[in-house]
Amino acid sequence: MEIITVDTRPIDGQKPGTSGLRKKTRTFMEPHYLENFVQSIFDGIGGLKDKTLVLGGDGRYFNDRAAQVVLRMAAASGAAKVIVGQNAILSTPAASNLIRIREAAGGIILSASHNPGGPGGDFGVKFNTPNGGPAPENITAKIHMATQSCIRYFIAESQDIDLSAPGSAKLGEMEVEIVDPVADYAAMMERIFDFDAIRALFAGGFTMRFDAMHAVTGPYAHAILEDMLGAAKGTVINGTPDPSFGDGHPDPNPIWAKALMDEMYSDDGPDFGAASDGDGDRNMIVGKKAYVTPSDSVAVLAANATLVPAYKGGLKGVARSMPTSRALDRVALRLGIDCYETPTGWKFFGNLLDAGRATICGEESAGTGSDHVREKDGLWAVLFWLNILAEKKTSVADLMTAHWQTYGRNYYTRHDYEDVDAKAAEGLISDLRGRLASLPGTEAGGLTVEAADEFAYDDPVDKSRTEGQGLRITLSGGARMVFRLSGTGTAGATLRVYLERAETDPDKLDLDPQEALAPVIAAAEALADIKARTGRDGPDVTT
Ligand code: G6P
Ligand code: ZN
Repeated sequence: MEIITVDTRPIDGQKPGTSGLRKKTRTFMEPHYLENFVQSIFDGIGGLKDKTLVLGGDGRYFNDRAAQVVLRMAAASGAAKVIVGQNAILSTPAASNLIRIREAAGGIILSASHNPGGPGGDFGVKFNTPNGGPAPENITAKIHMATQSCIRYFIAESQDIDLSAPGSAKLGEMEVEIVDPVADYAAMMERIFDFDAIRALFAGGFTMRFDAMHAVTGPYAHAILEDMLGAAKGTVINGTPDPSFGDGHPDPNPIWAKALMDEMYSDDGPDFGAASDGDGDRNMIVGKKAYVTPSDSVAVLAANATLVPAYKGGLKGVARSMPTSRALDRVALRLGIDCYETPTGWKFFGNLLDAGRATICGEESAGTGSDHVREKDGLWAVLFWLNILAEKKTSVADLMTAHWQTYGRNYYTRHDYEDVDAKAAEGLISDLRGRLASLPGTEAGGLTVEAADEFAYDDPVDKSRTEGQGLRITLSGGARMVFRLSGTGTAGATLRVYLERAETDPDKLDLDPQEALAPVIAAAEALADIKARTGRDGPDVTT
């Protein structure tokens, strides 16, 4: 095997964002673009010599080509072994699990998560550390620095490795182990949940629809839900991964999973519905005519955790990202456990999970997970819900009603203004930032501002500080709003406005969230002048 040293130049803009480097697929396909970034990962982590790496992706367009490049580059950099999913497929949580159980030096995940794929879509590359989690800021900073001085990369000259069947191959000295992407993950799920109880639920006639959105969870869901748990064939829809995700947008929310929502809100729909995203770490939960917000979902999981075998001893603590509603805080208060508030991005949960301070974590962006891996985990959340429903023998709607009666309800909505002019969006944020200190005590939309600040996070484990994580304003009546710019978009700026209000009156727990939140929505407009600054009449997406 010949190793070639290729001369290159630093490429601008290779700064990992909230979740790795995400760009247009075409950008990744430009000469040297992928190679420069992969070399910078290797350099940023101190080289690959004699190390074992995990490799897989969500199956999107260019996944197969990129995987071959990573294999050749890993061989050229002296890696001992790469464990790769069959056909270069691994869901993000399955990759996290493999890194952990194989004690690998890390993993490379080829995915742009829920962003559309295909030649006109997006592609991404993410590095996960030996704990199985997304690289924290200190490592992504080193990778970014390496991109800025990348003037050469190493690549082995070889044929493509056949990844179509489990087995073992050699690339020069390096071993390539091709594994079934589902097996280890399914075994872990079987250890966590009461599969017998869920099997009995399905055997009793319980019906479900799981929308894999033409993305990576198809094979996992077929194997676990239908083959292992006995859900009827046809429970899993869109279950064959497609490089362009059926030309859809593999993001599990009521907008992009509309067909599933329509079925769940029809009179003869199934008992339970769920969906997952491109790389399998996000989830959507919906009962019969009962959509569950991600913020409520993590609160319900925490409140009922002891029904699940793996968590029957109780939770060490819980954590949520700052913009996620405070429904979880209410559960933690009652359980007498800590509830941590972290910046947006799953990587911020890593230290809390590693240190045993948190067991379950959740984000408003449809992410829920626990200390079983170091990524959020879509199918895990779905199985958690099934386990709870199997134990409680109740419907999703009734479970939510009972939850709100016990803990109160945090009405919640997120308004997104997409592809806004970047300067206008930054202007809105910086203007509001400048006025934060003067807001407490003033009125907005009939509510009184109680506190206002820009969120900064002091990690209690490694004592690092992360600043500039969103503007948060709390108002009278348990209301709160958060303004932040998305860190995952690839075009213009996306302004996210997160709106929340707590309600404990037992007669007011069944309102439409947009109506229940009308005063908070009005206050946000009054405080930030959103319409004028974005030039939009209203949000592009409301979830
Ligand atoms: C990714 C991360 C999540 C994060 C989300 C936020 O999905 O994995 O942890 O919550 O991005 O995205 P945003 O577009 O709001 O920055
Ligand atoms: Zn994802």
